[in-house]
Amino acid sequence: MSQPSHTRPSGPTVSPLSAQGDRHFDGLAEKFAASLYGGVRGELRLALLDQLLPEMLALHDQPMLDVGGGLGQLAGWFAERGHDVTLAEPAAEMLARARESLSGQPVTFIQAPLQTLPEVAPGPWSLIACHAVLEWLADPRAALATLAGLLAPGGQLSLMVFNRDALRFSNVVKGNLEKALADRLEGKGERLRLTPISPLTHAQVEAWSAECGLEIRGVAGIRIFNDYCRHPPQNDADREALLALERRYCRVDPHWRLGRYLLYTLVRPDSPTLPAEEPGT
Ligand SMILES: C[S@@+](CC[C@H](N)C(=O)[O-])C[C@H]1O[C@@H](n2cnc3c(N)ncnc32)[C@H](O)[C@@H]1O
Repeated sequence: MSQPSHTRPSGPTVSPLSAQGDRHFDGLAEKFAASLYGGVRGELRLALLDQLLPEMLALHDQPMLDVGGGLGQLAGWFAERGHDVTLAEPAAEMLARARESLSGQPVTFIQAPLQTLPEVAPGPWSLIACHAVLEWLADPRAALATLAGLLAPGGQLSLMVFNRDALRFSNVVKGNLEKALADRLEGKGERLRLTPISPLTHAQVEAWSAECGLEIRGVAGIRIFNDYCRHPPQNDADREALLALERRYCRVDPHWRLGRYLLYTLVRPDSPTLPAEEPGT
């Protein structure tokens, strides 16, 4: 019989990391579902995405690929709006839950990590989403280049990443001063911890996007206030007020920069800019 996901296995410790050093969410589905989507943080994330995705993406029922689709909330959002969705996810347990909650929707499921998608779902795709995945990979920079290679010319990538600068800020707010001073912010991917192993900065996303020929067309912060609140909202009126504030300032500088997640629209230009030819060549 398999272990319930919240108990620690006895015996020798087996690394939960994949051969490539990524944290697939095998054994984490229950905790992830409860601690994120079971609470205010998940509600806010979905409410903000509901506002921002139509604002930040040109959507016209195009087929889309959801990379690291997890429990399937985002795939469901796109499927309900008429997109044929392919959800790729390496963790069997996450995929099974997504399959169950999306039964009857136009969604194709593939059990595969991002790194194999050039072989198993090459596209090219005019729309890809990859939300809250790069921070769980050993090499997020290579992963972004892989995603860029899957995009059709003119294609859009909706990328959401866990913000390293926000993680520093919240550690200081919580009093973890030594940890912040040592810049020891990332998790190790051990056991059932949900601190990402590769939190990213906006500067990295800017540099790595440019390296693989992607243009940043939009950026927003997801949960720019909520995670720093000393007094979390206690009633519906306060929750509504907080959501109104998140909505109002999520794309306003400097607030978006400290969003717990950064949401980008990255576009592969129709015609890549070619280096200028040397005269006489
Ligand atoms: C924090 S969850 C995000 C799930 C979903 N995208 C969302 O926004 O709710 C991270 C997901 O990335 C998946 N993941 C980890 N390594 C991956 C890889 N190499 N390729 C694709 N997905 C991966 C995990 O299994 C997990 O389902």
